[in-house]
Amino acid sequence: MSTRPVVAVVGATGAVGREMLDTLARRHFPAAEVRAFASARSAGSLVPFGNTELTVEELTENSFAGIDLALFSAGGSTSEKFAPHAVAAGCVVVDNSSAWRMDPQVPLVVPEVNPDDLAWHKGIIANPNCSTIQMVVVLKPLHDVARIKRVVVSTYQAVSGTGQKAIAELERQVRELFNGQEPTVAVYPHRIAFNCLPHIDVFLENEYTKEEMKMVLETKKIMGDDSIRVTATTVRVPVFYGHSESVNIETEKKLSAKEARAILSQAPGVRVLDNPGEKIYPMPILAAGQDDTLVGRIREDETIPCGLNMFIVADNIRKGAALNAVQIAEELLRRDLLRVPR
Ligand code: A2P
Repeated sequence: MSTRPVVAVVGATGAVGREMLDTLARRHFPAAEVRAFASARSAGSLVPFGNTELTVEELTENSFAGIDLALFSAGGSTSEKFAPHAVAAGCVVVDNSSAWRMDPQVPLVVPEVNPDDLAWHKGIIANPNCSTIQMVVVLKPLHDVARIKRVVVSTYQAVSGTGQKAIAELERQVRELFNGQEPTVAVYPHRIAFNCLPHIDVFLENEYTKEEMKMVLETKKIMGDDSIRVTATTVRVPVFYGHSESVNIETEKKLSAKEARAILSQAPGVRVLDNPGEKIYPMPILAAGQDDTLVGRIREDETIPCGLNMFIVADNIRKGAALNAVQIAEELLRRDLLRVPR
């Protein structure tokens, strides 16, 4: 590989893929060339890249010759099928799907939290679930000081997390309802406009959803601490961009709200927005289109000796997906790890 890698975005026509292209351009990622891949349906169409456009190519098993780095966001089955071909061709994969996240051979990385895990990658690095990323960016600096024993999280997740078709569905349902029409329900099991669905991804045998268990399991893997107990309720809400989370933590060491604010104001990738008297707190409309994870409403949990409540919001397409993937790629370059180990 020359010092400037050839980069592929797989799923380039999707909500996250488009943001990946925008993030590569915006952050001046030092690519020799960027190529856009999607399914045969989109081959030949154009996607924006900086001030120019890229022609979308159909993804095939032979697409990865000459490509050094592929950012995948085309769903789990596409990753499962194509990532091994990429690695076999010597291409490092940063994968945004859940396909490889809990594989013990695959590091699951948030660069602000566990960048050292990149050192043992074998060709694939997994990008965590969007709700998990924004939570651990905030929890890790608190864990380092006070050791978190238990986390109770409830989420309010935007439709963009489901992809372009869900963004279109919320738009269409709002229009239909304002025109007195029956809303068309296609993507979610129920209407999402002016509604909340306590159901993200599939239900599992333990009665939690897969999204909830992603938050439980991924948090332990990224934080490198199996002893942290996490319980989650994940809810889809009629917001286009920006996931919100109400997070309660119980710590071993007492942290005052003031101490937590001081720690978080120094934390990379985090912005404290916490002045309730001035009606300043995190909201999706403030996080959308921003890189930072916002945290506010920090207050002591008065029901236990060592506990805090907080509200965490981030752009799920940026820090929750595309930005985190590009930051992983930047860190691989910085650490000279952008190669498939032999
Ligand atoms: P396409 O637009 O050709 O269907 P979103 O998450 O916003 O729905 O986007 C999903 C992305 O994954 C799109 O870019 C989509 O391309 C791409 N994709 C889906 N299936 C495949 C596949 N089999 N091969 C390559 N790309 C795929």
